[in-house]
Amino acid sequence: MISEKLQDAINEQINRELYSGYLYLSMAAYFDSMNLPGFASFMKVQLEEERFHTMKFYDFVNERGGRVVLKKIAQPPVDFDSPVEVFELSLKHEQSVTKMINELMDLAIAENDHAAKSFLNWYVDEQVEEENTMNGIVNKLKMVGGKGHGMLMMDNELATRTFTPPNEN
Ligand code: FEO
Repeated sequence: MISEKLQDAINEQINRELYSGYLYLSMAAYFDSMNLPGFASFMKVQLEEERFHTMKFYDFVNERGGRVVLKKIAQPPVDFDSPVEVFELSLKHEQSVTKMINELMDLAIAENDHAAKSFLNWYVDEQVEEENTMNGIVNKLKMVGGKGHGMLMMDNELATRTFTPPNEN
């Protein structure tokens, strides 16, 4: 059985994962308004990733005999200066999520909850990928200077991303 403290902390994280999806959907809306459908599509796939992260936490709380409690989701930013700013914000956001996951892991360790530690390891690894994805795109956007033919090529490249449930092992 999960402790009440860890259950409450995971319920907070469920809210943050839902906010992450909401944030990326807001970014998708920005890209759609800029006629950059590939960038928008990338962000819609990111929304699916965040939904997956959310449901994995949701299932874990239930499997451990806890109770999922949903909270209010904050409004995400709606205006952005440029595509590069969007991805810089995404990278910053993922870095903050990594910190939250690490804090959850610290709590699981303090409580000596081995099942939670094993479960949270998946998120520790996933965050390495999340940060790396955003960082890679920030770097590419800086290389193409955020405009012209390079942007068109990036839009085409980002359009190819599809959602495949992340590796569960
Ligand atoms: Fe749920 Fe993007 O981390």
